[in-house]
Amino acid sequence: MTKNLNVLLIGGGGREHAIAETIVRTSKNKVFTFNNNEFSLGNFYISPGNPGTKSLGQNLKLDLSNHTSIIDFCNQNDIKFVIVGPEQPLADGLADSLTSNEILCFGPEKYAANLEASKAFSKDFMQKYGIPTAAYQNFSKNDKVHAIDFAKSLSLPIVIKADGLAAGKGVIIAESYQDAENSIHEIFEGMFGSSGDNIVIEEFMSGEEASIFAICDGNDYVILSSAQDHKRIYDGDKGKNTGGMGAYSPAPIVNNKLLEQVKTEIIDKVLNGMKTEGHKYIGCLYVGLMIEDNYGKVVEFNCRFGDPETQVVLPLFEGNLLELFYTASAGKIAKTAYLSNSNQSACTVILASNGYPDSFAKGNLITGIESANSITDVKVFFAGVEEKDDNYFNSGGRVLAVTAIADNLENAINLAYNTISNINFDNKYFRKDIGKKGLKSL
Ligand code: AMP
Ligand code: GLY
Repeated sequence: MTKNLNVLLIGGGGREHAIAETIVRTSKNKVFTFNNNEFSLGNFYISPGNPGTKSLGQNLKLDLSNHTSIIDFCNQNDIKFVIVGPEQPLADGLADSLTSNEILCFGPEKYAANLEASKAFSKDFMQKYGIPTAAYQNFSKNDKVHAIDFAKSLSLPIVIKADGLAAGKGVIIAESYQDAENSIHEIFEGMFGSSGDNIVIEEFMSGEEASIFAICDGNDYVILSSAQDHKRIYDGDKGKNTGGMGAYSPAPIVNNKLLEQVKTEIIDKVLNGMKTEGHKYIGCLYVGLMIEDNYGKVVEFNCRFGDPETQVVLPLFEGNLLELFYTASAGKIAKTAYLSNSNQSACTVILASNGYPDSFAKGNLITGIESANSITDVKVFFAGVEEKDDNYFNSGGRVLAVTAIADNLENAINLAYNTISNINFDNKYFRKDIGKKGLKSL
C-alpha cells in the first residue's frame, strides 16, 4: 500500500518557491519505493511560504525559532519529513531536534551546518582534511594586535571575514594595509554584530566563481547542475554585495575535469571528514568555488541551496526531487531519483526594489506576473512579494526571480530579459548583464 508522505518545507523566498515548484512538478502523483515501502507526496505545507507557493501547497506561519512548536505541528499533522531551505534554522539545530523526534530532515545537523555558520570552523575543517582553500588564520577579539600583524604579512588585497552568519555581507576585501587595519577594528567593534566577535583573515584568490550543489546522504551524493551567481548590485560586478542578483546554469567553466577534482578533493573529503568527527553531512552541500587554471578552491560552504541559484538549477532537474531528498535524509540516497539535468540552460534575473541592498520603498503594485508566467519556458519565482485583495506588491529587496529555460544560454538570457519587460512596478531595478560571463567561457 502506498503511504502518503506529508511534507513540511521551511522558508519563504525564491529558493523555497523553486523547491516547492520542482517537488510538485517532479513528484506529485508519482510513487517511489524505499525500504520496501511505497511513498507518494501527501499534504504539502510551506512555512511561511509566499504568494507564489500558495497554489503548490498550504502556506502557514510557524515560529521557526521554536522547535517544540514545529515538532508539535508535525506530530499533529502526521508529518514525517521536513525540508529546510534557509541556513538559520539549521545553524540553530532544527535538524537535530527533528531527528531526535523521529522526523526526517533534509538539511544538516547543527555540527555539520557549522561549515556555513562558522567560517573559522569551516577553515579549520578544510585545513584538517586537506581541502583546497585560501591560506588563513582565525582571530578572536582579544587577538587584535596579532590579527593586524598577520594581515600585514599577506600580499594585497586581503580578505577579512566575520566568523558568523551575516547574510552574505560579512566579507571585506581590503585594498591597502591601512584599510585592513581599519576593517579589523570596525568588525571587532561590532559592524557585523556578534557575528564579528571572531574573524578569519585570508589570502585573496583570483579567478572566476561558480557553485556546485551536492545532495548528500552522509556517505554518498548526487551532484546537480552547476551555477554562477551575480552577487554585486551593479552591472560589471560593481557596488555592494547582495544576496544575489541573478544566476545561470549550467556554468560552462565547470567542465568534467574540474568536476572530478571537486568530487575527490572537496566533497568526498567533507563527507569522510564529517564521519571521522563522528557526524554526518545530510542535505545540500553548496560548494562555492574560485576557479583558476581549471582548478577549484573553496571560497565558502553553505549548508543549503543557494538563492537565486536554485531558481536555475531546479528548473533543469529531471527525476523525482522528493524521492532524492527523502532517501538522502533517510541515509541511503536513491541515485536513480535523479535522471539528469535537461540538456537546456536556464537564466534567472532578479527584479529588485531600487535602493536594495540598502533602504527601498515598499508597497508598490506589481503588474504582469500572470502574463509573464504564461510564456512557454518561463517561471516567475516569488520572494519579497505581498498579496492583498488579489494584487501583488513589493515587500522585500529581492522581489521576483524571472527564470527562462532554452536550448542554450544565449537564448535563455534573451528570453529572461524579454519577459522582464512584461512585469512592472515603481522602482523596479535589475542588472542588465546576467549570464554574460557564461557566454565568454563558451
Ligand atoms: P563568502 O561569504 O565567504 O562567500 O564571501 C563573499 C564573496 O567574497 C565571495 O563570493 C567572493 O566573491 C569574495 N571572496 C571571499 N573570499 C575570498 C577570497 N579568499 N579571495 C577572493 N575573493 C573572496
Ligand atoms: N546566492 C548565494 C547564496 O545563496 O549564498
